[in-house]
Amino acid sequence: MTAWQPEFGVYIHVPFCSRRCDYCAFATWDDKASIIDEYMDALALEIRRAVDSGLRNAVSVFVGGGTPSLVPAEALARAVSLVPIVDGAEITVECNPDNVTDSLLRTYRDAGVNRISLGVQSMVPHVLASLGREHNPDNVTNAVETIRAVGIPTFNLDLIYGAHGESIADWEETVHAALALDPPHVSAYALTVEAGTPLSGDRARHPDDDDQADKYPIVDAILESGGRANYEISNWARPGHESRHNGLYWAQSDYRGFGCAAHSHAAGRRWWNVRTPERYVELVRHDDSTEAAFEQLTAEQVAAERVQLAIRRREGVARGDISSAKQEEIDVFVNEGLLVVESDRVMLTQRGRLLANAITIRLT
Ligand SMILES: C[S@@+](CC[C@H](N)C(=O)[O-])C[C@H]1O[C@@H](n2cnc3c(N)ncnc32)[C@H](O)[C@@H]1O
Ligand code: SF4
Repeated sequence: MTAWQPEFGVYIHVPFCSRRCDYCAFATWDDKASIIDEYMDALALEIRRAVDSGLRNAVSVFVGGGTPSLVPAEALARAVSLVPIVDGAEITVECNPDNVTDSLLRTYRDAGVNRISLGVQSMVPHVLASLGREHNPDNVTNAVETIRAVGIPTFNLDLIYGAHGESIADWEETVHAALALDPPHVSAYALTVEAGTPLSGDRARHPDDDDQADKYPIVDAILESGGRANYEISNWARPGHESRHNGLYWAQSDYRGFGCAAHSHAAGRRWWNVRTPERYVELVRHDDSTEAAFEQLTAEQVAAERVQLAIRRREGVARGDISSAKQEEIDVFVNEGLLVVESDRVMLTQRGRLLANAITIRLT
């Protein structure tokens, strides 16, 4: 009998974009299109080698970026097809609404892709411009129609709230317009100022905490009343459409990342690949390790992270997973209306979800 192992997922990183959005700090470049083909070859080689070394069957494969929909669909399909999967695995590709075409999605579908995640951010043109985005909202509608026409069974829309110049009415319009597309899943993120981005250097455009705190209950109310239940602070889904991939991260499962800057985790050891695509290609070509660095988590760190990740989810965290020294804090938060305790599970209230980081610091 084989020993029990946590579920396992695969992440594939595609570090190319047609233009960098002002707020984005992901490992991605808008001036390296000339190396896309060699990068995709290296990716396939790295995956093949891992398969030869006994890569486990994945319950989820997530192709993220960057903009995966920017690279040739056949090269992306080849990489996906190389990954061994369990029956019924979730296979997601992140797409920019601008690049979604019928033939692109047919190629993905034929490679087993069964979930698309669209970077929508806003449905209001002046807000998109303020975020430094290129697409117009009609592209989102067309992309959703194409997903359905091609027969890809489920999809997510990513939204961002708190851009400079976005009014409450703009945000309501975005959420209503997104819901009108009947998405099985929606992620809504508070715009975050990431170091080194054009946004970080422009203080006048920094988001306002109070404005974002006002916008969170709005998205929650509109999506909940539209039948998409909140199942993690920033994620809502129709029952059965919760993201399996995100679930792996939140459950501290094992995952393997392929491509530059991709992170991996196995039993408390975390490591990540070199950041630039050129360096990555060179290392793969020479059959050298692509690992840039690693960290080994202590048992205490693993336990603290379990609480930090679990409490973000609708099911919350088992009261017994919170250390005895912090049990009194739970009651304080319950009295403040930030936590509820039901059947020995500790869960965030809607107001608590807004303050999740501060709360988890005091609970771990
Ligand atoms: C890798 S990107 C998405 C795919 C694709 N590149 C796109 O933007 O259309 C993943 C998501 O992270 C979110 N995101 C990126 N930077 C962010 C930031 N600074 N604050 C909040 N959300 C951010 C966006 O919602 C974005 O869709
Ligand atoms: S948000 Fe998406 S499209 Fe914009 S720079 Fe980041 S990865 Fe590229």
